[in-house]
Amino acid sequence: MSEVNRKSHWENVYTGKGETEVSWFQENPAPSLELIASLGLPAEASIIDIGGGASRLVDILVERNLGKVTVLDVSAAALEAARKRLGEEGAGVKWVAADITSWEPAQAYDVWHDRAAFHFLTEPADQSAYVACLKKAVRPGGYVIIGTFALDGPEKCSGLAVVRHDAASLSAALGGGFELIDTRRHDHITPWGALQRFQFSTFRRR
Ligand SMILES: C[S@@+](CC[C@H](N)C(=O)[O-])C[C@H]1O[C@@H](n2cnc3c(N)ncnc32)[C@H](O)[C@@H]1O
Repeated sequence: MSEVNRKSHWENVYTGKGETEVSWFQENPAPSLELIASLGLPAEASIIDIGGGASRLVDILVERNLGKVTVLDVSAAALEAARKRLGEEGAGVKWVAADITSWEPAQAYDVWHDRAAFHFLTEPADQSAYVACLKKAVRPGGYVIIGTFALDGPEKCSGLAVVRHDAASLSAALGGGFELIDTRRHDHITPWGALQRFQFSTFRRR
């Protein structure tokens, strides 16, 4: 899928559907929060949520003072929805409307979090571009948390094909220089009660 088509797909999703009308909605992004909190980072740690969309993760990270948060998404509409919801509370959040396959990070981050964005990259060239960006953006000693559909998870999301992963396929995608420190499964229940099997793998950059 080209970048133009990707942007148009996701802008349509976020302008056409309400927050709880998308399968990935979580009232409480508990698995991500638990993993980020477990890293024991200081309040000034920098966290970037890749493909964060309109997720409520940023709200809770800000509320609990867990770090300085940047949310990146290809959909400006998604970011605007999250920005409006946060209001004043989100004054310190950075919002980046960009496609991760062509974004140039201007700083290094302590934590790279991605729930359900990487798995939409089905082309090896896009996956390589994502990893190249990640390597520019994550400082040595920093953490990478990637949540995707698990190997026994759905084959599609939002009408798009996905690539399902486990810790081994993510390690292979990242290449050398990353130590797997945690991998776990998570059963997500969509707002209409369907089960989606996820995996979350956490790596530390050497
Ligand atoms: C399934 S949603 C998950 C949203 C959010 N992470 C959550 O957990 O609620 C996937 C998100 O990835 C974003 N996305 C997809 N491809 C992207 C890309 N190449 N660059 C940046 N964002 C992308 C979409 O706009 C969408 O918000």
